Formats: sequence, structure tokens, C-alpha cells
Amino acid sequence: MSAGGPTVTDATSIPEGCAPAIALVDPKYPHNVGMVVRLASAYGIRQVWFTGERVSLDPNKGDRLPREERMKGYRAVQLVKSDRFLERLPPGTVPVAVEVRANAETLYGFEHPATALYVFGPEDGSIPKAALARCHRFVVIPTRHCLNLATAVATVLWDREFKRWMGGEIAEPVTPGGYEERGFPEPPPDLVYAGEGL
Ligand SMILES: C[S@@+](CC[C@H](N)C(=O)[O-])C[C@H]1O[C@@H](n2cnc3c(N)ncnc32)[C@H](O)[C@@H]1O
Repeated sequence: MSAGGPTVTDATSIPEGCAPAIALVDPKYPHNVGMVVRLASAYGIRQVWFTGERVSLDPNKGDRLPREERMKGYRAVQLVKSDRFLERLPPGTVPVAVEVRANAETLYGFEHPATALYVFGPEDGSIPKAALARCHRFVVIPTRHCLNLATAVATVLWDREFKRWMGGEIAEPVTPGGYEERGFPEPPPDLVYAGEGL
């Protein structure tokens, strides 16, 4: 059990997929997975799948996400290790390859499917052809250089959320202070805003 939710390694108990979701193909390090679980939690994505053998996170071996990636808010995210994520998706799911590829749509104009499964490659590689071949949409983030994995995921999820808000799908913007009911810190009394009194 990771702090982000159950890590399923037994192929017989792999849950049904639910979209929107994220899939990481052969991530290199546990912290890559941990950072994506954190992002999923922040943006209300309920499932993160990952493939390959480089990250185990097998609860039977006592594997856990790195300490800095274990926060109670992540329990709402189901973390699933399986190479068969594309077979577990419910009908209507749209696998979206987020990758630096010629002829991919740019994120600027990308309309996010409500039931997207966002597929990302590893830090030291890219999405393999077999997985690309099963994707229905291809999107590239316009940047001068490659982003690291977590930043690429964050950019896509932010863009999705922002466009949902612009499209009237979000009535009230959510913030950590409001959602976690932890209030907002008061600014220090001696705080002077730039421009004040000028
Ligand atoms: C650090 S990148 C992989 C390194 C990359 N293959 C290279 O040539 O340096 C990790 C993953 O993040 C995503 N990614 C990073 N930058 C991206 C961009 N500008 N557009 C789309 N995807 C990006 C892709 O899914 C990629 O496989």
C-alpha cells in the first residue's frame, strides 16, 4: 500500500480503468511516479497507471513512494502497475499520446476529451511505437526543449483545467486553502506591497 492508494501488482486484481486518467510508460524512478500521483490528486484525476520493471512499488516487498511524495490527500488516487492499461479502459476512453512528435496537435488548440487517458514516456526515452499505435490523439506541448516528466504532466493537467473553466465546466475555482479547509495564511502585518503609496 502506498500513500497514494493501492499499488496493484497482481495481474488478476487489476481494476477497471476510469477516465480521465494518466499512464506512465516505463518510468525511471519512484519519484517520477510520486510526483505524478501528486499532480493527479491536485487536479482531481482518480487513476495513475504505470508500466515496466524499473519502478516496483510492490507493497509485498515493502516498496513505498518516496517520503516527500506521501501525503494523505493522495489516497483518492488509485495507483496501478500494469502493462495492460490500454486493455482495461472503459469504452469511450480516448488515449492521448503526449509526446514530441511531428504532426502532433499543439496543446494551445487541443480540446481535451472528457474521457482522456494521457500517456507519457519516461525521462530517458519516449513512448514506444506499440503504445503510440494505440493512441487516438497526439499532442505536443510547445516548448523550446523537452520538459521533465512531471512538468509535462503538470502542463497538460493545468491546460485541461483552465480550458474546462474557460468552457464554463467549473463554476467555482478550487484552491488548496478552500478544498482542504485549512484556511488561508494571514499576510505578515509589516508586508508592504510593491507600488503601495507610490
Ligand atoms: C523528459 S521527456 C523524455 C526525453 C525526451 N525523449 C528527449 O528526447 O530528451 C519525458 C516525457 O515527457 C513528455 N514531454 C516532455 N516534453 C514534452 C513536450 N514538449 N511535448 C510533449 N510531451 C513532452 C513526453 O511524454 C516524454 O516522453
